[in-house]
Amino acid sequence: MASSYSLSSLIFLLLFVVFPACCTSRRVHEHRKAQTGFHVTLKHVDSGKNLTKFERIQRGVKRGQHRLQRLSALASPDNSQVEAPVHPGTGEFLMNLAIGTPPEAFSAIIDTGSDLIWTQCKPCTQCYDQPTPIFDPTKSSSFSKNPCKSQLCDALPSSSCGSDGCEYFYQYGDYSMTEGILATETFTFGDSDDKRVSVPKIGFGCGNDNEGDGFNQASGLVGLGRGPLSLVSQLNEPKFSYCLTSIENSKTSALFLGSLASQNSTTKGTTTPLLKNPSQPSFYYLSLEGISVGDTRLPIEKSTFELGDDGSGGLIIDSGTTISYIDGNAFAKLKKEFISQVKLDVNDSGSSGLDLCFTLPSDKADVEIPKLVFHFNGADLDLPGENYIVADSSSGLLCLAMGSSGNTGMSIFGNVQQQNFLVIHDLVKETLSFVPTQCDRFSLT
Ligand SMILES: *[C@@H]1O[C@H](CO)[C@@H](O)[C@H](O)[C@H]1NC(C)=O
Ligand SMILES: *[C@@H]1O[C@H](CO)[C@@H](O)[C@H](O)[C@H]1NC(C)=O
Ligand SMILES: *[C@@H]1O[C@H](CO)[C@@H](O)[C@H](O)[C@H]1NC(C)=O
Repeated sequence: MASSYSLSSLIFLLLFVVFPACCTSRRVHEHRKAQTGFHVTLKHVDSGKNLTKFERIQRGVKRGQHRLQRLSALASPDNSQVEAPVHPGTGEFLMNLAIGTPPEAFSAIIDTGSDLIWTQCKPCTQCYDQPTPIFDPTKSSSFSKNPCKSQLCDALPSSSCGSDGCEYFYQYGDYSMTEGILATETFTFGDSDDKRVSVPKIGFGCGNDNEGDGFNQASGLVGLGRGPLSLVSQLNEPKFSYCLTSIENSKTSALFLGSLASQNSTTKGTTTPLLKNPSQPSFYYLSLEGISVGDTRLPIEKSTFELGDDGSGGLIIDSGTTISYIDGNAFAKLKKEFISQVKLDVNDSGSSGLDLCFTLPSDKADVEIPKLVFHFNGADLDLPGENYIVADSSSGLLCLAMGSSGNTGMSIFGNVQQQNFLVIHDLVKETLSFVPTQCDRFSLT
């Protein structure tokens, strides 16, 4: 008797406690049914330009130095008193998408280091010249303003409540910024006609005032970071992945969302945990435990790449930074080891803009390059030579496509090192996998 009484009260309690929890969380994502997934073509910002691999990397390094400074400044603990939160801004790849009903196509920068999705909107207080017509919300039947009392408005780092509902201000590290109203729209993704997916009610910044140098190659930006406003968070898909072709390849790269994110990875990759930094909630942090050059594991203290309790340090994986930047002390050891193993003279003129270059032998004999392995927690990533070495016959140099992040404490794993891997972000398991893949097999063009 006593036992059956306690059993039924236990069942009652379970129902009472579990039922509301299940249905509150279900209601939040009600309008976002699982998609079948889609494939988006990514174009490098320099694609179509007649440039060598060396020139492409040099241009990326120039852009990346600013991004490195911004990212490091953001993650530095004494940055807490800035008035408006700042985001790294501008990336290296562009995607095509369409907004509204009927859909209007535009291209946007993709950025794994920030969250907000935005495009320039009429009426413009200040808009820059963009490649396609500026979006006019009055011509779309699916446009709605977003109320001030909403999860998305709450997720904005800087917002106010005005006559148009939720108004946002989003600033990037180079003082470029976008300001306007937070709205929802139907977005259409996918590049082949038969595989287009339209997703209603995606929250985005309808930017009436947009200022900045880095933007004008595209009509807006799509944040793929970890925060609630990003495209990957709003789609509520458990996974996304990208596959970047090598920087000198004219074929396009690919971004996959949802079920397509890992469907084509038949090869087994290596998997490492994704870490979170509460003070930089948009960034994807990895745990890097060491680096080997050839057979030598560099004498780097394990704590070098650790994320500090104050939010400083750590290593992020970023699609918007060209070459990797490694903590200054660790980079000095890496450089020393390369110099001792590569049987060529060092050219330290600095003319290439890269930290370590050698003189190419004039007889063009084959040059032996040591292996380079990044030891992530649980995943030893053995990089193909083309992911870290770049040679240029016109200047007679062979350089390491990596650099030092100085004493900023933060390190960045850049996109040259990620090329020809399918990079799968599993947001449910909180893991990141690198699957060796010839990425141009996904190119549609
Ligand atoms: C690309 O640049 C190289 C070197 O500047 C030049 O020789 C070549 O003709 C150019 N190719 C095209 C298609 O413009
Ligand atoms: C993935 O693999 C399937 C089956 O092999 C194929 O039909 C599909 O086209 C592939 N997807 C991409 C994006 O290549
Ligand atoms: C280093 O490389 C630059 C650019 O190719 C060249 O002008 C310079 O002479 C080289 N210096 C040495 C010491 O080889």
